[in-house]
Amino acid sequence: MFQTKITELFGIRYPLVVGTMMHLAKAELVAAASQAGALGVLASAMFTTQEDFRKEIRRVKDRTDKPFAVNLNLFPMARPVDNREYLEVIFDEGVRIVETSGHKAPDDLARDLKSRGVILVHKCVGVRYAQKAQAIGADAVTVVGYENGGATGTLDVTTLCLVPRVVDSVQIPVIGGGGVTDGRGFLALLALGAQGVIIGTAALVAEECPIHPDLKKALLEASELDTMVIMRTIQNSHRVWINETTRKVAELESRQAGLAEIIKVAGGDKAKKMYQEGDIQAGVMSCGQGVGLVKKIRPMKDIIEGIVAQAADLRQKLSII
Ligand SMILES: Cc1cc2nc3c(=O)[nH]c(=O)nc-3n(C[C@H](O)[C@H](O)[C@H](O)COP(=O)(O)O)c2cc1C
Repeated sequence: MFQTKITELFGIRYPLVVGTMMHLAKAELVAAASQAGALGVLASAMFTTQEDFRKEIRRVKDRTDKPFAVNLNLFPMARPVDNREYLEVIFDEGVRIVETSGHKAPDDLARDLKSRGVILVHKCVGVRYAQKAQAIGADAVTVVGYENGGATGTLDVTTLCLVPRVVDSVQIPVIGGGGVTDGRGFLALLALGAQGVIIGTAALVAEECPIHPDLKKALLEASELDTMVIMRTIQNSHRVWINETTRKVAELESRQAGLAEIIKVAGGDKAKKMYQEGDIQAGVMSCGQGVGLVKKIRPMKDIIEGIVAQAADLRQKLSII
């Protein structure tokens, strides 16, 4: 069902990627996604030592023998990361698929990854970035529209307009996302020409997602109006869930506060506290407009199978109108 160039390239059952999520895409969530037939993507930037990163890759492998990917982060970070260190572990551990995401195309990393036969997917938000990814040898490109949870870039093109434009502008397979939470969005993106679909916000309420139950409850109650884009003034635009900290950041930006002042409020350590301790006002959490469609806490497997089953049913219904 839904066999595409992406299922073939990655060797996965469904053309579905459960996007990487800083501090959250750890072994449990990644393995649950891959085991259920999608592609889980382990975040690397949260590990401060090669040893901890290696352990987490092994924890994924202990939980599933299905393909999974590792994300290399190219965004500006309060704690800058050295992707070369992660790369050594990736090669040692025989990771087959790497996703890069961030403000620049990974020219140098691409060369090394390709020379070792690793499948490279680059995630970005615009046509010219996708073309650049293709030019440096990426095997596939992921593009997410402005409604997506997390980094939005500055082009602000919606998923509905971005995905077909990218499909028409590159030859490599395209994974599309931004706002997809169910089978309707999944099928719509395949109809737009995507060979795969990525979800992030919908996975926040998976049972395996390590955020506090109070935060999951708040997300279930949120609507499509409860997100906003912040941190544009520090060249790090992110769509996030609106809470007290988000409002505080927006207020700081409105009076031209500097990077240090904003990061003090919006830093990853605060988000970690919010995820772990359930103080839902404590930090900033990436979240897409699709949150309005997220209504149930379920195992990752049920989320994935629910998306595919709904899409199959819908495809059938559409074929007879
Ligand atoms: C809480 C959260 C954290 C995220 N962290 C990252 C990240 O560290 N790196 C990255 O490339 N994308 C990150 N993303 C983006 C997702 O991988 C995915 O591309 C996006 O969520 C898809 O759009 P959607 O949220 O509308 O489904 C994050 C998304 C969320 C919701």
